[in-house]
Amino acid sequence: MKIIVPATSANVGPGFDSVGIAVTRYLTIEVLEPADAWFIEHDLGAGIPTDEKNLLLSTALSISTDMQAHRIKMTSEVPLARGLGSSSSVIVAGIELANQLANLQLSDAEKLRIATEIEGHPDNVAPAIFGNLCCATGLKTKVLNTVISVPSELHFAVVVPEVMVSTEYARSVLPNHVPFKEAVQNVSHASLFVTSLITHQLSNLSVALDDNLHVPYRKTLIPYCDAAFEAAKAAGAYGATISGSGSTLIAYVDKAHVQAVAEAMGAVFTSNGIENKTYCLEADSTGASII
Ligand code: HSE
Repeated sequence: MKIIVPATSANVGPGFDSVGIAVTRYLTIEVLEPADAWFIEHDLGAGIPTDEKNLLLSTALSISTDMQAHRIKMTSEVPLARGLGSSSSVIVAGIELANQLANLQLSDAEKLRIATEIEGHPDNVAPAIFGNLCCATGLKTKVLNTVISVPSELHFAVVVPEVMVSTEYARSVLPNHVPFKEAVQNVSHASLFVTSLITHQLSNLSVALDDNLHVPYRKTLIPYCDAAFEAAKAAGAYGATISGSGSTLIAYVDKAHVQAVAEAMGAVFTSNGIENKTYCLEADSTGASII
C-alpha cells in the first residue's frame, strides 16, 4: 500500500489560517512488510526519527494502537519546515495509515477534524486531504471546509531559500491587534482572491494577494523577501506572497512566465549569497490518495 499526500501552500496572501492550496510536490509512504517493531526507512536526515517518535507513527498511534507494526518507507519531495506543509503531509498520511491498518473507516470530515487538532491550522491540512483550494474554519467540535478547483492556467513559481523560520516563531512576531481598515481590506482581498479563481479573473491577483495580517511582519524574517516579490512581478507574475509561515515564497503566474519567474526569484537569493531551490508547480487536484 502507498499513501501519497500533496504539499500545501497555506494563507494564499490574505487568507491567513483560512485558505490553502495543494501543490504538486508529494510525500509518499510505502507500507512494506509486517515487522516486530515499527521502522521507518527514509533519507530525510539524522534529525528525523525512524521509530514511533516519527510524526507519521506518533500521529497514527494516537488514533489507534490496534495495528500490526510494519516496516515503512517514507520519501518526501516537500522541503522540511519551509512553509510548504511538510508536517501537514505527514500528519495526514499518519491519519490515513491508522485508518487503513486499523480499518477505522474515517470520513473525510473526521480526518480533517483530527488533522486540524494535531496540526493546529486547517488551511494547511485541508488541501493536503482534499487537494485543490480549500477554505476552512475550525469550530469547537468540527472543521467546516469548502473546496474549489484551481484554474489550470494558474501556475506557481516557488523559491525555497536556505532560511529556517519555525511556524512557532513566525506566529510570535504577529501583532495582537491590527487597524480596523487593514482588517477590512484583508476581508475584501481574500474574497476577491477566491472569487477571482472561480471566475478565472487572474489579473485581479495583483491586488488580491496583498495582505495586512502576517506578510508585513513575517517578511522581516526572510532576507530579500521584498526584492524577490518585486523580481517575480517584473518577470511577469500576477503577484507573490509568503507560503505558509515561510520561508518559501510563492508567485502566482501563468504558464508562459512560470519558469522565468522562478529563476528571477531564485537569482535574488543567489546573488545575495543565500542558497535556494526553485520549483515550477501546479495545483494538485487529487489530495491524499491510497494506491
Ligand atoms: N496559517 C498558518 C500560519 C500555517 O501561517 O501560521 C502554518 O503553516
